[in-house]
Amino acid sequence: MAGADVVYTTDVTDVSAAELEGFFVDWPTRPSPERHREILRGSDHVVLARDGDTGRVVGFVTAISDGVLSAFIPLLEVVPERQREGIGTELVRRILAELESFYMVDLVCDPELESFYRRFELLPLSAMGLRRRHRLAS
Ligand SMILES: CC(C)(COP(=O)(O)OP(=O)(O)OC[C@H]1O[C@@H](n2cnc3c(N)ncnc32)[C@H](O)[C@@H]1OP(=O)(O)O)[C@@H](O)C(=O)NCCC(=O)NCCS
Repeated sequence: MAGADVVYTTDVTDVSAAELEGFFVDWPTRPSPERHREILRGSDHVVLARDGDTGRVVGFVTAISDGVLSAFIPLLEVVPERQREGIGTELVRRILAELESFYMVDLVCDPELESFYRRFELLPLSAMGLRRRHRLAS
């Protein structure tokens, strides 16, 4: 029954900033809900998990791609009060289905999440990244 009231959608057109409160937990600077909405609209693929009663977004995943061979999943998050209900699993399952035609689908995660992603047959790879913290603020 967990997560039973959640509706999944790829449609981001009617999402308001007010429905995007509560994300980017533990980030050094949280992107504002308005910026979050820009991120959703700028992504090639998005899956949202919305509370079926209130419409509040309780989880989201984004992907960007070259449209031919490769895709990257930059962001996946479920709001803390709705974690461990299977929502993150369903978001990943759905975005991987969206990206089914691509040869490579990559993401970067902390080591403790490796077992979470292994369930979708993702394999550990090494990664390099640049983080410009001053670019986080809106
Ligand atoms: C990672 C995240 C999206 C998982 O979402 P979720 O809805 O809680 O995940 P699920 O309920 O589908 O979890 C299924 C299983 O994955 C594993 N899992 C989930 N979150 C985990 C975490 N943070 N660390 C380790 N394992 C985790 C558990 O085995 C869990 O099963 P259990 O509840 O029976 O123990 C969520 O914890 C989150 O938003 N974290 C903060 C942001 C983040 O780390 N995003 C990923 C960036 S790569």
